[in-house]
Order: sequence, then structure tokens, then C-alpha cells
Amino acid sequence: MDETIKILVIDDDDSGREALTMLLKSAGYEVTSAATGESALDLIERGHYQVIVSDLFLPDKSGLDILQNVQKISPSTEVIVVTGHASAQTAVRAMKEGAFDYITKPIDFDELKIVVSKALEKQKLLSENMYLRRQLQGRFEFSNIIGTSPAMNLVFERMSRIVKSDSSVLVTGESGTGKELVARALHYNGTRRDRPFIAVNCSAIPEALLESELFGHVRGAFTGAVKDKPGKFETANHGTIFLDEIGTLPLHLQAKLLRVLQEHEVERVGSNKTVKLHVRVISATNSDLEYMVKCGVFREDLYYRLNVIPLHLPPLRERQQDIVYLTTFFLEKQCRLMGRTPCSISKQALEVLELYSWPGNVRELENLIERMIVLTDATVITLDDVPAKIVGEKSADEALSVTMPNHGLDLVATISRIEQSLIDQALESAGGVRARAAALLGINRTTLVEKIKRLKIEK
Ligand SMILES: Nc1ncnc2c1ncn2[C@@H]1O[C@H](COP(=O)(O)OP(=O)(O)OP(=O)(O)O)[C@@H](O)[C@H]1O
Ligand SMILES: [Mg+2]
Repeated sequence: MDETIKILVIDDDDSGREALTMLLKSAGYEVTSAATGESALDLIERGHYQVIVSDLFLPDKSGLDILQNVQKISPSTEVIVVTGHASAQTAVRAMKEGAFDYITKPIDFDELKIVVSKALEKQKLLSENMYLRRQLQGRFEFSNIIGTSPAMNLVFERMSRIVKSDSSVLVTGESGTGKELVARALHYNGTRRDRPFIAVNCSAIPEALLESELFGHVRGAFTGAVKDKPGKFETANHGTIFLDEIGTLPLHLQAKLLRVLQEHEVERVGSNKTVKLHVRVISATNSDLEYMVKCGVFREDLYYRLNVIPLHLPPLRERQQDIVYLTTFFLEKQCRLMGRTPCSISKQALEVLELYSWPGNVRELENLIERMIVLTDATVITLDDVPAKIVGEKSADEALSVTMPNHGLDLVATISRIEQSLIDQALESAGGVRARAAALLGINRTTLVEKIKRLKIEK
């Protein structure tokens, strides 16, 4: 092992604690132990442990208290709970509150070793992702745009090229995928960063005013034009103009826009004086412009002029691995804005967010996080805080309520049913691809295959 891995064992039973300590030490870990909840919390506050193995029932505190405190003090630490009494409900509750896994007494040492190494594997993956993201951001400084997925890496790579050029860019993507955010980042990381960035939402301005908004007018050009007014193009001179929702631009203005872009000059409405323009154009749309061209509602020549460099932003459902980072980012941002202590999110709640389809993309996620924070006083967002619509009918919660009554307190049968239900959901969301389903479940593929085999035999 290249780095010492620190594990904290919490158990009030002396012989059990010593056995666990010896076992984990023999597996090469540095092990510290505590006999009470209070002394354990003291240790957690003073040192960093990658993994904590804690008994669920301690004389002074419950394992759930420990779990909640660990999530506040050291959110990256994984907690494995040990349950002696056949309390399925508490074990399941611990999982729901974010425990990595649970094991039952008498402890199967081989099983424990496997669970510990899986917890470490997961941690490693998360920190590698963090590292990659930091590297990426350091290089391009698009630090407010979150994403480590392959799809977003392609976007960042393209952006890093675009900032060096002056060509027109057409940003496409569904609503809420970050088109405006990206357009601003392109401007503020480019050579025109000290010049104006002027955004015009073509769909928000009444058609009758749009021409004068874009190109300006002179006094008396039309009723109500009481004085000369420069248009957005002139205001953006030497900087960037961002033409948002470009697909809604009426045809007669498309013709005028094309002329302005071709000739690099503009005439205010009602004037025949031209003003030279040096403006970089970034436009954005969530409509299919190519199709609009085919239908004759968008000019083909203008389309090509705007679309010199296409930049497509993938929908959030196609970059599931970004959800954990976006969630953390928005939790931090929102708590900071509200002057609250930073919030975290339980693993269970996060998994639900990862499985949701996000029709409103990143904007929907951002709004949801804000709403969840406003509606709770807790510092950990749990499954209970996630709206029913997002949890969906197939939540683990529901699997539980269906399962528990049928099996009473039979721990093994209950857990098997829950496992089966979660595996089925993951396989469905992953379109049957086991490796992807395993990733959704936070386990590796071999473990998933073993679990499927075992569950089949038990059936
Ligand atoms: N990758 C991202 N990282 C961080 N924040 C993001 C990201 N993508 C989008 N956002 C945030 O989500 C919200 C929506 O983004 P934005 O307004 O840029 O989307 P849009 O594609 O322009 O949407 P629309 O088509 O509806 O106008 C913003 O608050 C933005 O800051
Ligand atoms: Mg927008």
C-alpha cells in the first residue's frame, strides 16, 4: 500500500473490538479503536479516517448518531455499520442515512475485508474525479462550469480552442443545459474579456422593438423615438454580442442581421450613416435550426454564418456522473448565499437524483437544491427532502414498504428483496448494461454479477 489507510473501529464490546482491530491491522490498515460514541467523535474530530466500522448499539450513542456526525465532520469518510440484533429497520435506516454498507454479527471477516476494500475503491474513484476536474479548471479557468463527464470534457476542450479564435459560435442544447453560462465563459476567457458582453434575448423583446434594440435608431425614426439610441450591436462594439434564442428572430430581421454580419457595419433605423463593427457573435438556440432551414423559416445563409463553430451542450441525463459534482456545487453555493452552515446530501438521496431524467436539465437541478435547502433546517439533505415526483414510484423507500410487511423482521429475506429491487431499477435505468448498472449502484461489475446469481438461487 503506497499510503497508510486509517480505519476507526467503534465497539463497546472489548473482545469484539480487539478482534476487529487485529483483523484489519493484519490486512495492512492503520487501526484506531474506541469503546464509546463520545470518545469516537473526539477521535473523528481530531484525525481523518477513510473508513469507520461502527457497532449500531453503543452505551452512550447510537451508530446512527455517529453516522450523522461523521457526515458533518468528515463527509468523505465511509461508514460501515455492524448490527448484532436482528434489526432490519435500523440497518436499512443506516443505509438510508448514508452508511456505505452494513454487516451482521457474527462477523464474517472475509466479508468485512471485501466491504472495506469496496468502500476504499469508491473513495478513490471520487477523489480521482475531483482531481481531474481541478486540473481541467486550472487549465482553462472555466471554474464555474461543473462537469467531469466525457461529454463535458469534449465541451471544455472545444471551448479552450474557441477562446483563442474570433469566429462565430452557435451554442445548441436543450433548455437549462448552460448555453448562456458557456457563452459568458467564452467571452470572459477570450481576448475581448475587457470589452463589453451584451446579451440579447431575441424571444423576450416584442417584434416591433427588436430591430431598434439590435441596430439602434435615430430621433423621429418612428413614433416614440424621441432621441437617438445606439443598438446592442454598437454597444457591444469590440466585445461580444450574445444572440440568445436566435431561432425566434423573424425572417425580415434575419436578412438585416445577415447584412450586418457580412459587411461588419450597422445602420441605425431611420439613418443612412454606417458605423463600423468589430463584434464577436455568439448565438444560442434550443430549436433545431437545421430543420428550420429545411422548413424555410430560418435563412440558410444566416445559419452558416452563425454556425461557423458549433458547440453542443449535452442534456444532463446523458452525463449522469456530473450530478454529484453539480449537486455539491449548488449545495455549497446556496448555503453560502443564505449564510447557512454548509449542507451535505445523503448517498441515498443523491442516488435518486442520479437516476432522475432531468427534463429541465441543470437549471432544474439547481432550483431543486435551492428548494430543498429552504425547506429544511437540517444540514444533511435526505431522501425525505426529495420531492415524490423525483423519487418516482420505484424508490428504495417504496421497495421497503412493500417488502417489510411480507417478511416481518427476517433480516436476510428483507435485505434480499431490497437488493433485488434496487438491482432491477439500476438495470432498467442502465438499459440492461451491467457495468453501468453496477456504477449506478456504487459497486463493481463482478459484485453485481455475483449478487444477481445469489439472488436467483435464493429465489
Ligand atoms: N455545467 C454547469 N455548471 C454549473 N452551473 C450550471 C451548469 N450548466 C448550467 N448551470 C446553471 O444552470 C442554470 C441554467 O443555465 P443557462 O441559463 O446557461 O441555461 P440555458 O441553456 O441558457 O437555458 P435556456 O435554454 O432555458 O435559456 C444557470 O443558473 C447556470 O448557472
Ligand atoms: Mg438561456
